[in-house]
Amino acid sequence: SKITIAIDGYSSTGKSTVAKRLAKHLGYAYVDSGAMYRAVTWFAMTHNFINKEKFDIDSLVSHLDAIHINFIFNKDVGFAEVYLNGENIEKHIRTLEVSSFVSKVAEVSEVRSQLVNQQQKLGKGKGVVMDGRDIGTVVFPDAELKLFLTASPENRAKRRFDELIKDGDEVLYDDVLKNVQERDYIDSHRKDSPLVKAEDAIEIDNSNMSKDEQFHVILGIVNK
Ligand code: C5P
Repeated sequence: SKITIAIDGYSSTGKSTVAKRLAKHLGYAYVDSGAMYRAVTWFAMTHNFINKEKFDIDSLVSHLDAIHINFIFNKDVGFAEVYLNGENIEKHIRTLEVSSFVSKVAEVSEVRSQLVNQQQKLGKGKGVVMDGRDIGTVVFPDAELKLFLTASPENRAKRRFDELIKDGDEVLYDDVLKNVQERDYIDSHRKDSPLVKAEDAIEIDNSNMSKDEQFHVILGIVNK
C-alpha cells in the first residue's frame, strides 16, 4: 500500500533530485516544500516587504491570505511547477537572491503554520514523497519512511553552484558556499521547528555518492 516518504536535510543535499525520481518510480506525488517557502519569499520581494535593508514581517503576515500556491504538472519537464496566484514562478524562485532571503521568511511562525497546513493537505491520503526541513518532524511525524540527507558544505555548494551556472545565473562559488552555510545556520537555530534529524530518520551522507548510487541506496531502503 502507498506510504508517506519524508526527505529532510540541509540545503542543497540533493533532496529534490532524489525525491522527484523516487516519486516518479513509485507513481507517487512529489511535493517540494522548499518551493513553497521560496514562493512566499518571491511574494515578499515583489511587494517590497523584504530587501537587503529591511524585512517588514507585519506586512507579510497581514498578506498571507492573499498568497495562493499550487503545483501544476508540466509534462515537458516531467515534474510539477510552482504557481503563485496563478502565475508560474518556477524560473524566479531558484536564484541566489531568493535563496538569500528565504530562510529569514521561513523563520516567521505564521508563514510556517500556514505552509505546514497546506503541505499536510497536499500529502494526505495518497502516496507522497515530500522534501524539506521539517517534514519528518512536523509535517508528517507519522511518515512510514523518513530520510535525512547530509553532505559536506563544500560538496553541497559545488552542486548548487553548477546548477545555478547551468541556469545562466552569474554567481561566484564563494557566495554560494556562504549562502549554504548561512541557511544551514538560520534553519537549524530558528525557534519554530528548527532543522533537526527526526529520531527515527535514516541518515544518508551522500558526499561521495553519485545521483544514481544515492537513488539505488534509497530505493533499497524503500523496498525493504
Ligand atoms: O529546499 P530549499 O533549499 O528550496 O528550501 C529553501 C529554504 O526554505 C530553506 O533554506 C529553509 O529556510 C526553508 N524551508 C523550511 N522548511 C521546509 C522547506 C524549506 O524552512 N520544509
